[in-house]
Amino acid sequence: MTRTIYYTATTLDGYLADANDSLDWLFVQDIDTEGPMNYDEFFADIGALTMGRTTFDWVHRHLAESGESWPYGDQPTYVFTHTELPPVHGADIRAVGGDVAPVHAELVRAASGQDIWVVGGGDLAAQFAEAGLLDELMIQIAPVTLGAGRPLFPRPFDLELTELVQNRAFACARYAVVGPRR
Ligand SMILES: NC(=O)c1ccc[n+]([C@@H]2O[C@H](COP(=O)([O-])OP(=O)(O)OC[C@H]3O[C@@H](n4cnc5c(N)ncnc54)[C@H](OP(=O)(O)O)[C@@H]3O)[C@@H](O)[C@H]2O)c1
Repeated sequence: MTRTIYYTATTLDGYLADANDSLDWLFVQDIDTEGPMNYDEFFADIGALTMGRTTFDWVHRHLAESGESWPYGDQPTYVFTHTELPPVHGADIRAVGGDVAPVHAELVRAASGQDIWVVGGGDLAAQFAEAGLLDELMIQIAPVTLGAGRPLFPRPFDLELTELVQNRAFACARYAVVGPRR
């Protein structure tokens, strides 16, 4: 059955990126790419992705600067935005917006029985959670604090810790979404 999973790295104080959308703090961390909760294993089960416009713009900028190609294969990627998206060579990108529920139904169809990856940002993940459409958070916590930046999950929710492992510098935690805090 398709699960909807918010899989991301964060700082210890709960930021996805600094205030300038930089991930410099992340790329210097030590990780075993074949270790617990590694990306390749996670991505092998993903059939469709969704992300917010800021995250898309970061990826798009990174590709232009590095010359790398689109990192998410031909899995359909639904980007939430209010404006048009630039085309990306080799990517199946679909601009969407508004209520997450109808988009989630499309994501489920597109995933064809595999899982859905909510790439971020945090508020978009929380929109899925508020609609009752987010199953899990898989969070790699880096040993760094920023004091400010783009928040991991900026809405009040209760979660249940279901797994906790170390991957070198990272504390990797899996949480089931319980529901909005009352
Ligand atoms: N640490 C990590 O592994 C990790 C993972 C993911 C992301 N990141 C980084 O974290 C930052 C995330 O930024 P963020 O949280 O500010 O933003 P985000 O979710 O990536 O993007 C926010 C934007 O998405 C659009 N949006 C969101 N919900 C929408 C809806 N329901 N309908 C229409 N449009 C909607 C709006 O774009 P419009 O401008 O079009 O209105 C909004 O301004 C980025 O720098 C990203 O690169 C880091």
